[in-house]
Amino acid sequence: MAGYEFLDDKGTFRLSNPDLTSYLYFPIANESGVMSSVTPTLGGDCKMGQNTFLLAPVSSEDLHNNKSSRNFWCNVKGKGIWSATGRSAKQEAVLFSKEKEDTVLEAGMMWHKIKRVSKEYGITSEITSFVPYTKDTVELMIVTLKNSGAEPVTFTPTAAIPIYGRSADNIRDHRHVTSLLHRVEVTKEGVILNPTLTFDERGHQKNSVVYGVFGAAMEGEKPIGFYPVAEDFIGEGGNFENPKAVQDDDIPYMTEGFKIDGYEAFGGIRFTENTLAVNEEAAYVIILGFGTSKENLEETVKPFLSINFCKKALEETMAYWRKKLNITYKTGKKDFDSWMQWVNFQPILRRIYGCSFLPHHDYGKGGRGWRDLWQDCLALLLMNPSGVQEMLFDNFAGVRVDGSNATIIGTKQGEFIADRNNITRVWMDHGMWPFLTTYLYIMQSGDINLLLKENTYFKDPQAVRGEEKDDLWKPADGNLLRTSLGEEYRGSLLEHMLIQHLTAFYDVGEHNHIRLRGADWNDALDMAKDRGESVAFTFMYGANLEQMAELLLTLDVLGTHKLLLLKEIALLLSDNPELYDSPVKKQELLFDYCRKCKHTVSGDKLQVSCKELADNLKNKAAWIKNHIRKTEWITDKDGYSWFNSYYDNNGRAVEGDNAKGVRMMLTGQVFAIMSHTADEEQVKDIMSAADAYLYDESIGGYKLNTDFHELKTDLGRMFGFAYGSKENGAVFSHMAVMYANALYQRNFVPEGYKVINSLYRHLCDFSKSRIYPGIPEYVGDNGRGLYHYLTGSASWLLLTVLNEMFGIKGELGGLKLEPKLLLEQFDKDKQASVEFIFADRKLKVAYHNKNSKEYGAYQIGSIAIDGNQSDCDKNHWVINRNILDNLDSNNLHLITVELL
Ligand code: G1P
Repeated sequence: MAGYEFLDDKGTFRLSNPDLTSYLYFPIANESGVMSSVTPTLGGDCKMGQNTFLLAPVSSEDLHNNKSSRNFWCNVKGKGIWSATGRSAKQEAVLFSKEKEDTVLEAGMMWHKIKRVSKEYGITSEITSFVPYTKDTVELMIVTLKNSGAEPVTFTPTAAIPIYGRSADNIRDHRHVTSLLHRVEVTKEGVILNPTLTFDERGHQKNSVVYGVFGAAMEGEKPIGFYPVAEDFIGEGGNFENPKAVQDDDIPYMTEGFKIDGYEAFGGIRFTENTLAVNEEAAYVIILGFGTSKENLEETVKPFLSINFCKKALEETMAYWRKKLNITYKTGKKDFDSWMQWVNFQPILRRIYGCSFLPHHDYGKGGRGWRDLWQDCLALLLMNPSGVQEMLFDNFAGVRVDGSNATIIGTKQGEFIADRNNITRVWMDHGMWPFLTTYLYIMQSGDINLLLKENTYFKDPQAVRGEEKDDLWKPADGNLLRTSLGEEYRGSLLEHMLIQHLTAFYDVGEHNHIRLRGADWNDALDMAKDRGESVAFTFMYGANLEQMAELLLTLDVLGTHKLLLLKEIALLLSDNPELYDSPVKKQELLFDYCRKCKHTVSGDKLQVSCKELADNLKNKAAWIKNHIRKTEWITDKDGYSWFNSYYDNNGRAVEGDNAKGVRMMLTGQVFAIMSHTADEEQVKDIMSAADAYLYDESIGGYKLNTDFHELKTDLGRMFGFAYGSKENGAVFSHMAVMYANALYQRNFVPEGYKVINSLYRHLCDFSKSRIYPGIPEYVGDNGRGLYHYLTGSASWLLLTVLNEMFGIKGELGGLKLEPKLLLEQFDKDKQASVEFIFADRKLKVAYHNKNSKEYGAYQIGSIAIDGNQSDCDKNHWVINRNILDNLDSNNLHLITVELL
């Protein structure tokens, strides 16, 4: 089976016969809230949110199960009905025969064009779907029909798009009753649905969203009539893939002014009969639109009723998204460079769709979680750094004074909402992501003073890290932490992060690792609330404490010697090995602190010296490292060694030999390496164990865990998933990429490359992965990529390729160059280059490996900026910030790096 080919270096690709692959979907959306998914036969859906689906919501199984689609029919004189999208009973019946129509997909960021050639009907259709990048709340289809036969062809076209027009909740719940709310009206150009009320989880409310499907032919030619009711269009006994109205003149079409109440609405648009000479074309545009009123909708749709206007909108939309992709690579692996454009694009998609609203992502209501919020900032920092400072700052308002955080994130930046259902769930990893992102920001920008800026804390009834409720808190008190005098309390961002890490440091289980609580990064490790511990993330809290200490020392050098912290934090700053060794004492201290801050805080501040605080944090970090090294290094009966990552709810170590087979999990290994807890020899041991137990080249590389052969209800629901799927032993991209990142960081470069390359090679082999270019959440045991597009792994891959592979990193605002490219990654001119934004400048770093040396053998010989030699320190190649600041900000600057 042929795969896709890239048509340019911007990721535009072509794929033949995509309709011979199931589960394919493609995102088209804009930043004004329109979110669609499109399949090769124009199935999928279109919505602006959980309660405003224009096309009925689809899960992955609906993609082949659902007859509702964006159909476009031609009743061809003398031959009968033909679907220009391939969605007819007749065309589907011949899908697996030689009569199958040839189809070709071409797609780029936010546009999707499918061509279909019918020899039998002598027509070739080309349908381009996109959502204009502008504020317009519409999805467009430009339909071109060409006479590709040998004689003139006469046909009557009918666009046929069911208008669901309500909440996703009603797909089963009150599906029929909600159709009784429908008020449908035919206008000159389309069918408008204006439901009276909405019935969904918010209760019964007056509807405020108007939906419509409109059409125009050629320049300004209006449709001749409409089918506004689904049951009339299909006719008795018919269906959307064999509708009676397109083949039977007995079913009349309606015209402007027709109104009907209480039926499933339908965007059936009849155009006038057309005759095309050989090679002649006809064009139509179909508009799916959302409005706040009939007038608003008609106003929005009006300009798009011109095909030329739509074509211009398409060009502009293509250009708009291309411009957003401001990191481009040029290496000896051309296809990898193009494929990476899709990876770069994915964080943008996730900001638009959240973690919901594509067919595999059939959960949630569009929001992103706390972890995703911070990790998506990683990609933003690299792609569009302006404005990120504010975003980071605002996000800290979600931290609670007990170190946990708000989990419901509002739509406005920095808005956090108390959970109305009062669900207490604390993810133990949440506290460590903000530091990771803030650290990257400081390194990129040099803006270390961000640490000293003050922000509020989040307050709701959850207290004591989810263990208790603050009964004194009332909703009227609002969601800001207050002092006992009722004033808003503010603390520095550094204080926020200190609290997150110090509370975690004391929040240990019986083995003295941080408690797993609700779960950690692995959301499906959610059944070990009482005795579970996550060694995996304890590593990272330790590493962060150490880096935080380094930042404190930098602050000190730069002249900030003292800090003000909330007085109550003094307790958490206890520095005593005896205390550290005792889980019981640690928990007591933590409870003591949390109870003191349960309802309000004193508001008093304590002065600490940066140096002393740094020492304090270093001691804690060192204690964590030593403790894990001493207690969690395991060796199995075959002599493989690695770190145990978890304790279950019965207090048992999870990994190692087991009667049911060896148990190993990747997560702990990734963070052991990334946190520098594993020494060089241990990294080597871990890699051997991972290669022996987790690596499977045929599905893209490193799996998340071995098969436990047990429904381990004392650890998490993941063990209920089939082995090889999702969090139970799939090749889970996010963790695989973080594994690569960790290996690169530790200079295990060929090994890091192997992780990325096996994943990439699998994914870009369409016959195996069966997904369009990009990285999915995971690869299943049959090799298929699942949960495409909306995955945090894209941010991490972007980060890993730029920061590690290309070795382009911020160092307190300076630009550090430390290439970790393998010889095979250089092109035939011995070059590998990348364009990106740094210090508000457009830069291109071009590495020239003139002696064709392998990684490890080459080193940087010289650096020139725009042809002028730069006098960097020869042992530490960093271009200082002031040099970058002096470059003009309009032009691209070339940094040539000679490798010797
Ligand atoms: C998803 C979630 C992420 C979580 C991970 C593992 O990963 O978005 O927060 O940590 O599952 O449970 P993603 O789809 O982003 O790769």
